[in-house]
Amino acid sequence: MSDALYTNEMLESIKKVEASRPSRIGFEPRRMTADEKEALLAKFHPDYRKENFETLAMGPNKGERVPEELASLLQAHSRIKAKDVDLKNPDYDVDVLVIGGGGAGSSAAIMAHENGADVMIVTKLRHGDANTMMAEGGIQAADKENDSPMIHYVDALGGGHFKNVPELLYKLVTEGPGAVKWLNDLGVMFDKEADGTMITTHGGGTSRKRMHAAKDYSGAEIMRVLRDEVINRGIPVVDFTAAIELILDENGKAAGAVLKNMETGELLVARAKTVVIATGGAGRLHYQGFPTSNHYGATADGLVLAYRVGAPLLYAYTLQYHPTGVAFPAQIFGALVTEKVRSLGAMLINSEGEAFMHPLETRDVSAASIIRECNERGKGIQTQNGYGIWLDTPMIEAIHGAGTIEKRIPAMLRMFLKYGYDMREKPILVYPTLHYQNGGIKIGADGMSDVENLFVAGEAVGGIHGENRLMGNSLLDIIVFGRNAGINAAAKAKTIDKTGKLTLDHIKRFDEELKAAGIKTDKVSPQLLPRYTHGNPKYEAK
Ligand code: FUM
Repeated sequence: MSDALYTNEMLESIKKVEASRPSRIGFEPRRMTADEKEALLAKFHPDYRKENFETLAMGPNKGERVPEELASLLQAHSRIKAKDVDLKNPDYDVDVLVIGGGGAGSSAAIMAHENGADVMIVTKLRHGDANTMMAEGGIQAADKENDSPMIHYVDALGGGHFKNVPELLYKLVTEGPGAVKWLNDLGVMFDKEADGTMITTHGGGTSRKRMHAAKDYSGAEIMRVLRDEVINRGIPVVDFTAAIELILDENGKAAGAVLKNMETGELLVARAKTVVIATGGAGRLHYQGFPTSNHYGATADGLVLAYRVGAPLLYAYTLQYHPTGVAFPAQIFGALVTEKVRSLGAMLINSEGEAFMHPLETRDVSAASIIRECNERGKGIQTQNGYGIWLDTPMIEAIHGAGTIEKRIPAMLRMFLKYGYDMREKPILVYPTLHYQNGGIKIGADGMSDVENLFVAGEAVGGIHGENRLMGNSLLDIIVFGRNAGINAAAKAKTIDKTGKLTLDHIKRFDEELKAAGIKTDKVSPQLLPRYTHGNPKYEAK
């Protein structure tokens, strides 16, 4: 690895990291007290920067604060006029319409199909283009002898600042072991000992080793198997087709969606007895200018669709900034460096070679601590994009032996090697990256939102994780709540003999509400694709 890849400042700092490394092997930095954490979060966590939030002036969450980028999409006009859509001759007619082709949507579709429903998936990109695919570190489930769903519950509740909705968290942890078994039986190749025992590790904030992984390709491996299962069952998937407006019946119940072919712009109508929103997160809105670890389509579409038909959101003010996004090199700025790197022993080290925090504090605390180290203490390392902190990856092989990095985190190794950096030899630079939407659409334990027949699963749901999710609870929630939504959406569809008259009247009502609230905007939503055009209309998505 050539020194020419680093600045002189970096090389000087790396010497300090290397000098302090031997004294850090076997040493565990102290954890922060609850008071210290609160003070740290209030001062340095991006969720507390009031100037980057806006109070909603209309809609079900009127009076609540949300990121300003989200507010401008929630309080925007529809992409369509009701008169331009022929609701009388639907292009698709199904029992269950699943919007989104990631892990949650696929799980929902599989279980709806299993329960006898005629189900269809629509996805604005390709089947599997989703945050599930990007997930690396693993999936939590309390299935070891020294663990229990109750201990898992307490860990997640503490991590979520006691804001998790109890019945949702209960469902998550009690159905966790069954979810992992379901995936294993479907064919997910989890890491196992020679005797078949699942290998499990810690994540930030876990008191037991309950992270099941497929190396650091966990999400991709899960998505591979779910996609195969959808294909094997013959469930139709309409890709490159976005849902741009929900359709209600004359009684205000969800009854389908208006779809847009992303290539031709053609509008299509899908009528459905029940609808499942599984559209994922919002990283590509780049809240507060942060880079993101999210996939290209993560633009909060589901939240916008649901809000416009009157479904309330829960905790939409809380986001997760993963502490270890790539800070350097610039080509992979913001990409995820899995928490598993820290689970394996790598410590976060400042420019002076000091371990300034316990490496497995919860994510919000870790992110805030890194931001403090760079912004207040001046102990970050300068990069082209700002600052970073060292993640001392050579510690992993010093602790577990040569070959561990290649065996346990091969995706990380390859990502950096591609640009000439060998994490086995030198530490890597990290800084928080926008990773997860803790808040989302409010649901009950059956997965249904406050709008009848509208179900939600995956990252589009709010409340499961409170104000901060623990690592590995997202891959778990897409399976538990995806399956749940599919089962209940299919059961509900069976109770509906015939869908009522389709309407888009809510579009007009929403526009009137915008006007009454004094909101003047020419913005239309959902956004569908990120904006990297610096305002040049030639390149803007229509
Ligand atoms: O760090 C990670 O591997 C991310 C996992 C997660 O968000 O659950």
